[in-house]
Amino acid sequence: MEPNSVPKGTERSALLSGLMRVAMRAEHDKTRQSPFMDDLLGGRLEAEAFTALSRQLWFVYRELEAAAQSLSDHPLVGPLVDPGLSRVAALERDLAHLDGPQWRRTLVPVPATRVYCARIAEVTRSWPAGYVAHHYTRYMGDLAGGQIVRNLAATAWGHTHEGALFYHFDHIPDPRAYRRRYRAVLDELPVAGDEPPRIAREVTHAFHLNNAMFVDLAADHVRAEPADR
Ligand code: HEM
Repeated sequence: MEPNSVPKGTERSALLSGLMRVAMRAEHDKTRQSPFMDDLLGGRLEAEAFTALSRQLWFVYRELEAAAQSLSDHPLVGPLVDPGLSRVAALERDLAHLDGPQWRRTLVPVPATRVYCARIAEVTRSWPAGYVAHHYTRYMGDLAGGQIVRNLAATAWGHTHEGALFYHFDHIPDPRAYRRRYRAVLDELPVAGDEPPRIAREVTHAFHLNNAMFVDLAADHVRAEPADR
């Protein structure tokens, strides 16, 4: 038997989505409640902060989607790749709408975004199973909490369509059902041994990388509370 193959009926691969979910739950609220996200969700940030987030996400998704393309035949990544998830084209239309036709000229990654993209590139090169963690963290997050941001973008800044296309998954009419199917696909991936917990640890890392990006964004967009005297 191949070292990585999992006999049918064993529990090993079925652990993957559960382990990833446990890792996600341990980090999720910290990320969701980081000052940038919290103020964004609370409608306390200017439209410019929303645009600043889209600019950083462009770097991240460019890396994620270049990797998806290069790994599309890989047995661990191929089953998750779906053009219906792709976000770069939507982000580019959003940025052209928000920043104008010259949007590329002023686009600069914050330091944490550089680190995040470097990690995605690194796992893509040397450990494709790790890429699974990054794919899950961002795309499943977009299909869950991202749909809350979608509503906020419309109510807080009037981006009902153009400007917030990133949050519109036109090819995925039922995000909750999609997420359920995605987890079933995760559980069919040919991973075994210590690989599932390693992938779950990479989910934790992916959350930390997102947090760091939000910390950098907060430095420019979140006003510090006045200190108590
Ligand atoms: C805007 C703030 C956010 C809100 C309001 C939010 C909300 C939610 C909700 C309601 C769920 C569903 C929980 C469940 O089905 O058990 C969820 C799941 C998830 N979120 Fe978030 N989230 C936010 C930000 C994020 C961010 C920034 C990330 C990634 C860095 C993220 C990644 C995830 C992931 C990976 C899941 C699990 C999806 C699944 O396994 O089906 N979320 N989020």
